[in-house]
Amino acid sequence: MDRRSSRQWWWHGAVGYEVYVRSFADANNDGTGDLEGIRRRLPYLRWLGVDAVWITPFFPSPGYDHGYDVSDYLGVDPKHGSLADFVRLTGDAHELGLHVIVDIVPNHTSSAHPWFRAALTGRDDPHRDFYIWRDPAPDGGPPNNWVSHFGGPAWTLDPASGQYYLHLFLPEQPDLNWTNPAVADAFDDILRFWMERGADGFRIDVAHGLAKDPWFRDNPQLAPVTPGMDPRAAFDRFEHRYDLDQNPNIEVYRRWHRVVAPYGALLLAETNAADPVRTARYHDGGDAIHRVFYLEIGWLDWQPMQLRDRIRGMHLAGPDSTAWILDSHDTSRAATRYGGGERGAHRVLCVKTLMVALGGMPVWYQGEELGLENGVIAPNDLTDPIATRNPGAAGRDGARTVMPWDGGPTNGFNDGATPWMRATPRRAAETVAGQRDDPTSFLTRHRALLTVRRTLPDLWQAPVEWLDTDDSLLMACRRGTVVVVANLDEHDAMLDLPEGRWRPVFSSRTGAPTSGTVTGRIGVPAETGLVLAEAL
Ligand code: NOJ
Repeated sequence: MDRRSSRQWWWHGAVGYEVYVRSFADANNDGTGDLEGIRRRLPYLRWLGVDAVWITPFFPSPGYDHGYDVSDYLGVDPKHGSLADFVRLTGDAHELGLHVIVDIVPNHTSSAHPWFRAALTGRDDPHRDFYIWRDPAPDGGPPNNWVSHFGGPAWTLDPASGQYYLHLFLPEQPDLNWTNPAVADAFDDILRFWMERGADGFRIDVAHGLAKDPWFRDNPQLAPVTPGMDPRAAFDRFEHRYDLDQNPNIEVYRRWHRVVAPYGALLLAETNAADPVRTARYHDGGDAIHRVFYLEIGWLDWQPMQLRDRIRGMHLAGPDSTAWILDSHDTSRAATRYGGGERGAHRVLCVKTLMVALGGMPVWYQGEELGLENGVIAPNDLTDPIATRNPGAAGRDGARTVMPWDGGPTNGFNDGATPWMRATPRRAAETVAGQRDDPTSFLTRHRALLTVRRTLPDLWQAPVEWLDTDDSLLMACRRGTVVVVANLDEHDAMLDLPEGRWRPVFSSRTGAPTSGTVTGRIGVPAETGLVLAEAL
């Protein structure tokens, strides 16, 4: 629990669910998902058993990075609805006991934002200093060797002023200058604006990126960048010593903590610090970010030993402050990464069984509850700038295809209009309608897992005691009256249970509780997660 919290905030024990706004539900049948579509699907989310809905950016945006290039932080893009829709959505969510998390993008704006348009008018414009400008290097090239996440240098020349501006993502996403107090003031107001309209928290995009090295020193290069390399691989050829995860970031979030506290709102940060201790420090003992994403796990393929070590390491560093994810709109879907097919999806639920017992906040991505693999998109239909601007790069579109509600023409996403991104329709068995009444489906099992979490709060709040196991890939812990175990090995294993009688209440293979009680030892099938409750 947060050191300084005097009460249980709503997010204690909560499970989050990420909605990719473009692809969740399209109420007005124009091909793009909208807030009204989400509102109509809230009863589904309530039925599933999640507590908070994180909605990806729905602000006005030219859409070069699908909404992560914001041109007005105080509005709703007409393709996603209106402010009135947002207020209606939060109202309905609250009635259902759900919380709404807005995705705020403070590292950069769109180049179409009025602040940047003004900054381009000249060095003396008051908004010039909202962004990061530097003179060219002596050879006329970019001021340093920083590269963009999306390919090429992180600097673009503004010919009119002769200066370069910084963009850690696309040139259409200029980075804000967080050393300028006016930027911090503007964001205080933006946060308040959304909380006044019902937002219960914020997911903070690129939370680790705001502060930059004051001297803009070159990043150490670890290996050469070769032509045609995937931009994310090229990015990893540098040690990001000076452009990311700078210490002054934490000060920004201490300030935000004070801004959101009167509203009881959550700060949920996207931090891409590889090290668990660096990640956990964004929580700052309860004074800064409430829940911190640990993205490292989300990039892994099925690598059980690495998975085990990262989960243990992160849990040790941030036992109650970590937001646990396997999937998001930025990764290949976990079921695909884990080998695909039934087996890939089984592995996902095995790991998630453990994750619901780790404290902090598990966050599921839309469609994960169906065991979805990546969608199939023809090369000409790719839309992600990583793919369209870097020939041959895989991009993130596979995780962003429409949510399959039923076996209808657009999988129930809308009334038949072609979705914003074309993809092969999903099979009926992959849809909500196809799984909802099937007691053995992934959907039913995911729902059962959340029911167990709700009915056995020891699962997320009792002290954690990791149990000794004979198999190094058998991860098990006791939390008060509950034992949780995940066998990441491809072989069956045996677990020595703590003293007493234990009642299996969940299995990632079947969902349904196995009858009876167990004492002493229990067999844990390969790649399976189990929850057991102490029998009275
Ligand atoms: C992280 C977001 O999740 C991703 O989709 C986006 O492209 C980058 N931040 C830049 O905003």
